[in-house]
Amino acid sequence: MTETNLRLLKDIDEPGLHTIDVYERRGGYSALRRAVTELEPDEVLEQISEAELLGRGGAAFAMGMKAGFVPKGDTDNYMLVNADESEPGAFKDRVLMQKTPHLLIEGCLIAARAIDAVQAIIYIRGEYEHQADILERAVAEAYERGYVGKDILGTGWDLEFVVHRGAGAYIAGEEMALLDSLEGKRAHPRMKPPYPANVGGGVYQGPTLVNNVETLCNVPYIINFGVEEYRKLGTEQSTGTKVVSVSGNVRRPGNYEVPMGVTCREIIYGLAGGPPEGREVKCFLPGGSSSPALTGDEGLDLRFDFETLEAAGSMLGSGSVIVVDDSQPLVPFALRLAEFYRHESCGKCVPCREGTNWTVKMLERIDSGEATPMDFELLAQVQTNIIGNCLCLLGDSMAMAVGSMLEKFRDEFERHAEEARARNEAALVEQSAPELAAAPSIGPM
Ligand SMILES: Cc1cc2nc3c(=O)[nH]c(=O)nc-3n(C[C@H](O)[C@H](O)[C@H](O)COP(=O)(O)O)c2cc1C
Repeated sequence: MTETNLRLLKDIDEPGLHTIDVYERRGGYSALRRAVTELEPDEVLEQISEAELLGRGGAAFAMGMKAGFVPKGDTDNYMLVNADESEPGAFKDRVLMQKTPHLLIEGCLIAARAIDAVQAIIYIRGEYEHQADILERAVAEAYERGYVGKDILGTGWDLEFVVHRGAGAYIAGEEMALLDSLEGKRAHPRMKPPYPANVGGGVYQGPTLVNNVETLCNVPYIINFGVEEYRKLGTEQSTGTKVVSVSGNVRRPGNYEVPMGVTCREIIYGLAGGPPEGREVKCFLPGGSSSPALTGDEGLDLRFDFETLEAAGSMLGSGSVIVVDDSQPLVPFALRLAEFYRHESCGKCVPCREGTNWTVKMLERIDSGEATPMDFELLAQVQTNIIGNCLCLLGDSMAMAVGSMLEKFRDEFERHAEEARARNEAALVEQSAPELAAAPSIGPM
């Protein structure tokens, strides 16, 4: 990634970028000014639609289309920023909020303008206290400069802006559960429709546009430089750049901004330095802990964009690449993931509540050497039965990751169980008859 290709992370280490003075000095809020003083809300929406900006929160839904579903005229509309970022491996929104909060606020204001919102809300993960403090200060600065509040930039448009601290649960990032949490209830997914953008579906029943932090951080660039310029980076279907959080067995874990369509190898080896000396990539999850694993052989030369990864049976998701090298056993890794999803399942629907629990139990048996041959088949079946049968995608997320690892590395899972069983048996012999265990083994007769 060359310096000129950076958009969201450009100047990210500039001292004081989180303050409005530095942000404005670097051209900040010019896109908002243009959006409210030169363009009609429909024109703003049109530009976002033509840029074909796909959501960066996981589902890759077109932002322009979603914003277009929000009715305008008689309803009180809301702009809701999903800043819950709680998935293992994801830490891109954190850096954006911490280092360039005004970029998010500006993107959010432009989107709010496009849907004629009366209030903008950032729902931020409860544990992100530092980032929430920064955002609150930044929102206060935006109020002082007249970008938020009454009669914004003298146009007669009023908008209130709230930073709401979340309740500390991964499920609260699922947009329907997020709405419940915001309204003071327990974060539980709701049946759809109505969708948040529909009347009766969003915040306080008002039509609501929900977007991820990174999605919104792209908006000022589109308005400032135009659709054509925006689309110069990325692929036909996955436009623009992506901030990728790389973690796991790499030498330089971190956030990297890449044009959509670079290869996974360029990200994992080129930017993140690849696995430690002498190690190979066994597999990687290209879209965070909820995406199906790709083996190093099948995945490294694939293009990192929504369409390619989907065609390969995985997904780009939130763009968090978790790398596993060939020194890491996969069973404890899969178990750790399943434990996370079991803990975070809200329990409202059966396939997720029971499925995550049974997955943990079976992986524990495999890990401890107590599994029977049937357990492998059962484990695979449980994953298949979860997928597509839950109220939201939390259960599916675990099933896709665990199911793919089991499918692609079945031998390793079986070997792991076999070796653990052999260790258990040896330990038993050691315990019950130490003299037998110490005796030299009898060679072939
Ligand atoms: C269990 C679960 C957790 C989620 N967590 C987040 C999150 O932390 N941040 C986020 O933007 N989207 C999250 N999503 C996706 C949201 O439901 C929604 O698709 C997204 O906020 C829409 O924004 P976008 O269109 O800009 O991507 C989650 C989904 C699920 C199923």
